[in-house]
Amino acid sequence: MFNKETINKFKTIPTPFYYYDLEVLKQTLQKLKEESDKYGFIVHYALKANANNAILEIIKSYNIGADCVSGNEVKKAVECNFKPEHIVFAGVGKSDAEINYALDNDIFCFNCESLQELEVINELAVSKNKNASIALRINPNVNANTHKYITTGLEENKFGINIWELETVVNTLKGLKNLQLIGLHFHIGSQIMDLGSFKSLCLRVNEIQNWFASRNITIENINVGGGLGVNYHEPDANLITDFAAYFKLFNDFLELRPKQKIHFELGRAITAQCGTLISKVLYIKKGVNTNFVILDAGMTELMRPALYQAYHKIENLTSACSSMKNISAPFGEGNGLKYDVVGPICESSDCFGKAVSLPETIRGDIFALRTAGAYGEVMSSAYNLRDRVKAVYSDKI
Ligand code: LLP
Repeated sequence: MFNKETINKFKTIPTPFYYYDLEVLKQTLQKLKEESDKYGFIVHYALKANANNAILEIIKSYNIGADCVSGNEVKKAVECNFKPEHIVFAGVGKSDAEINYALDNDIFCFNCESLQELEVINELAVSKNKNASIALRINPNVNANTHKYITTGLEENKFGINIWELETVVNTLKGLKNLQLIGLHFHIGSQIMDLGSFKSLCLRVNEIQNWFASRNITIENINVGGGLGVNYHEPDANLITDFAAYFKLFNDFLELRPKQKIHFELGRAITAQCGTLISKVLYIKKGVNTNFVILDAGMTELMRPALYQAYHKIENLTSACSSMKNISAPFGEGNGLKYDVVGPICESSDCFGKAVSLPETIRGDIFALRTAGAYGEVMSSAYNLRDRVKAVYSDKI
């Protein structure tokens, strides 16, 4: 993904920083549109994955909507000129101020997660003399077979309305005159690599649709959420995830009613591979059974490994560049050196990888932590009073 010229430029920029390859982003979006347009599917980008203006500008230009989970994300989408009729707003804990902001901006749909939330949105809509379009987020009790912290569609999770509550919800809705039920919403989890989980979701949605049809309730929109995974282990082998298989599966297994539209909310699959965290080696330190590479980036810049034991491929770009190896070839092969790659933060969990095979590494080498464009920069923090991490874009270096 990086040529020699780019790596040499990295050496002149203060580290750590996120590097975004906008060509990779555009190619990803091109493929996404091509495959979703085949079936007339509507895609919303989940801003929570990465909400940088430069990234959002490009995403919006592909005529993609916005999926938001906070009032500030709705605000950001509005400011970045996503059309209000392309904005959806989910989340188990929407505050009154957030709901009011979304009502004032006439967003397309609130994805509602509880009975009480429906009552509150209705009350606030009444006081503004407005109607709010809502979708019921239903917990489908489908296992996403992914990390437990990013599983959302099981009964034990806090998300969505459980199936056994539907009867009460539908009856209550009859009395909430300023709400208009326009859809059903589902989301089973994130980083899902097993497409079988999405098939299970489709089959469950079909059953739930039957339930609504048997009560003569017309549903115009089915929103199946996001969750499509990416290849963290070999990013260069799959820079663009398999959108063709993903969308085909929904086309094959979801039974749509006449005029129904399908919506998706993808985050990771759109932005993960275009982003890389670039860092410099501060020190090499000998441990008891290992050597440590101490980077100038830590869990404050990329929290996923500390939080979910997530894997990000680690590459020594300096040695790749000087040996003029093909960057996509495995680095350090044959020299048998293994390092624990850690950050500078005062926490033992501040570790990006244990016993990582690398070429001999020295102070000053430039490292890449790959596949960091989604849930990387957005989850960074100022813990230890660290400076906020910067972003560098491929069209500006
Ligand atoms: N829709 C809803 C309702 C969601 O909760 C999410 C993600 C998405 C869409 C987008 O999912 P995606 O296509 O990106 O998988 N911080 C975690 C991921 C949390 C995902 C939360 N919800 C991580 O770093 O892996």
